[in-house]
Amino acid sequence: MATTGSPDYRDSGLEFAPDFVIGSATASYQIEGAAREDGRGPSIWDTFSHTPGKVWNGDTGDVADDHYHRWESDLDLMAELGLQAYRFSIAWPRIQPTGSGAINPAGVAFYSRLVDGLLERGIRPIATLYHWDLPQPLEDAGGWANRDTAYRFAEYAALTAEQLGDRVHTWTTLNEPWCSAYLGYGSGAHAPGRTDGAAALAAVHHLNLAHGLGVQEVRRAATNDPDLSITLNFHVLRGDHDTSPEAKRRIDALANRAFTHPILKGEYPADLLEDTAQVTDWSFLRAGDLAEIHQPIEVLGVNYYSTATVRMWDGASPRQNNDGHKDVGGSPWPGSRDVEFLEQAGPYTAMGWNIAPDGLEELLLALRDEFPDQPLMITENGAAFEDRVTENEDGKRVHDADRIDYLNRHFTAAHRALAQGVDLRGYQVWSFMDNFEWGYGYSKRFGIVRIDYDTLERIPKDSAYWLQELIATRRTP
Ligand code: NOJ
Repeated sequence: MATTGSPDYRDSGLEFAPDFVIGSATASYQIEGAAREDGRGPSIWDTFSHTPGKVWNGDTGDVADDHYHRWESDLDLMAELGLQAYRFSIAWPRIQPTGSGAINPAGVAFYSRLVDGLLERGIRPIATLYHWDLPQPLEDAGGWANRDTAYRFAEYAALTAEQLGDRVHTWTTLNEPWCSAYLGYGSGAHAPGRTDGAAALAAVHHLNLAHGLGVQEVRRAATNDPDLSITLNFHVLRGDHDTSPEAKRRIDALANRAFTHPILKGEYPADLLEDTAQVTDWSFLRAGDLAEIHQPIEVLGVNYYSTATVRMWDGASPRQNNDGHKDVGGSPWPGSRDVEFLEQAGPYTAMGWNIAPDGLEELLLALRDEFPDQPLMITENGAAFEDRVTENEDGKRVHDADRIDYLNRHFTAAHRALAQGVDLRGYQVWSFMDNFEWGYGYSKRFGIVRIDYDTLERIPKDSAYWLQELIATRRTP
């Protein structure tokens, strides 16, 4: 067994190589707070969360974890835990308060301090340019359904990379464009809350275009030879009914190939265009777009939480839609509303998502088979559970054995993929700390660090110490 250098994943048990980058992730709107400070403009999530009935309990990101003011002690905690990387996102409305025009120096200064603080502590900065907080004025002009938003994103990417591109190690253009497009414009569960299938598909394309243009701008502006990436949430599909293959093909086209094929192959799948022909004529796809989108990326970011089990609806019994997302009436599946999402076998997390670590291994192997030369990174994996705080003479503790078990099983699955030769570069646990879980507000806790929302105190959970030991010893504890 290798004890120095890179372990041989075929026989090394659960050893992770020193250059397998283990860290944790967050996103701006979910943790920062300070929503109206230092010139930050409003985003679609400010508008949405302040609209009654959209978010659980009327929760908003106004204060969130107050990371905007507590970033320094948060970085100290990351360093104490030994994180090799920290994946965070940059709030576009802090950099360009209205979504276009000159930079807001105070907004840039915040991220500049953050990046310097990470580097001083030996933590690799992985910056996501867009984790859903679109400047509201851009939504007022049509949002992601409007082609111009892709060009505005390219401009924002260029300005940001000109400021931070000497220090950020990895740039991710977009986080989970599936959610931005289909939950934002199709189901309406996410901001801006529109329910228009044609707009959702236009958003898919304009997000892809934004990615391609953004990659080119960052590549041009950054001076430290960074890695470029995009983070996708893949749907790992199951189902053993006669009609499951058809249902899987449809959802795979809408959820997975609608992004991977233009980005990594320079084409849209023919079946996607056919399946959605009743919804849109795809006239938003213009000559030359696919070449802009199809840019080499150093890393493909993979977010994975659970699986989905599907079949075609028979039209008679009530249609099941256990797709793991809040049902607010609209459909996140334009052209394929007749696909049923069946209830899956447990165990489940507090989100009601089934725990299926084998799905992660299956996904990594499938990506390797389809895109053999594309390095991968797990940019999110983690779980919400009903945590309980206990207090004794050592202080407050959260014994989150269920989260440790979840992480242990998924790290083990990733290890199995490594052992089968998958070029997997690292693993970022979602999330560093409890935060604003979108439509679920503060009711779901994904953190390895607990936030007391009354005092904003940070309490590392047992899972944080588990991760600390894994990183230090390179073995699952
Ligand atoms: C995906 C998103 O990127 C993140 O913002 C969210 O909190 C987690 N998954 C958990 O749902």
